[in-house]
Amino acid sequence: MTGRIAEICSCLTPARVFADVGCDHGYMTRYMLKNNLCGRAYITDIHAGSLEKAKILLKDEVEAGRCIPVLCDGLDGVKEPCDLVLIAGLGGEEIVKILSRVPLPARFVLQPMKNSGKLRAYLVERGAKILSDRTFEDGKFYDLIVGEGQGGDDYSDFEIKYGRDNLRTPSAAFLRFLEKEKGKLRARLARRGMRRESRDEMRAKLYELEVITDAIEGTL
Ligand SMILES: C[S@@+](CC[C@H](N)C(=O)[O-])C[C@H]1O[C@@H](n2cnc3c(N)ncnc32)[C@H](O)[C@@H]1O
Repeated sequence: MTGRIAEICSCLTPARVFADVGCDHGYMTRYMLKNNLCGRAYITDIHAGSLEKAKILLKDEVEAGRCIPVLCDGLDGVKEPCDLVLIAGLGGEEIVKILSRVPLPARFVLQPMKNSGKLRAYLVERGAKILSDRTFEDGKFYDLIVGEGQGGDDYSDFEIKYGRDNLRTPSAAFLRFLEKEKGKLRARLARRGMRRESRDEMRAKLYELEVITDAIEGTL
């Protein structure tokens, strides 16, 4: 199990019906079933080859009827409500599209690969309550958002952009993420031939990241 997968699994809680959307290898569902954390699990994937991998890994559970493979887009082919939905390794916009077509699940664990801000804004707009929203590191940096479909929440613009827990209870991983982002911006600013507007935009972004770094550095 990779560090990323272990980190995601640590957020998975007991459920009656679990769904692993974009399951690919199926490792997270194996964790749920092996640890008896759910009554049954749906594994869905839009690509037959990916779903096949999970079906092989979970062959015994599929045969026993505890794991139900569905070849579909998002949750479209899942015909019962799932009280815990995991969507990991997809883009934030894709996750928004998937969730837009279903009632928000009682609990969700989301690990977007990009556009986390768009996903946060969507969840808050839709009335979700965010329980945990932080960046972790496993070679690369990943955002991990855990929440409930109901309860409502209030996010500032900065929290939408950077993740609430990263700002309220910062971690060393988030600080390293900021340093990496600042390094990338400095390297780009050092290049010649950039449009003035782009340069100004990058300077403003670098300044924003420096302000955040200064604000959280003392807390670590
Ligand atoms: C990068 S893999 C992530 C696998 C696993 N969830 C993880 O986090 O390690 C993305 C998987 O999502 C599937 N996928 C992409 N878009 C999807 C969608 N709209 N509905 C279902 N599966 C999708 C892909 O086929 C692929 O197997």
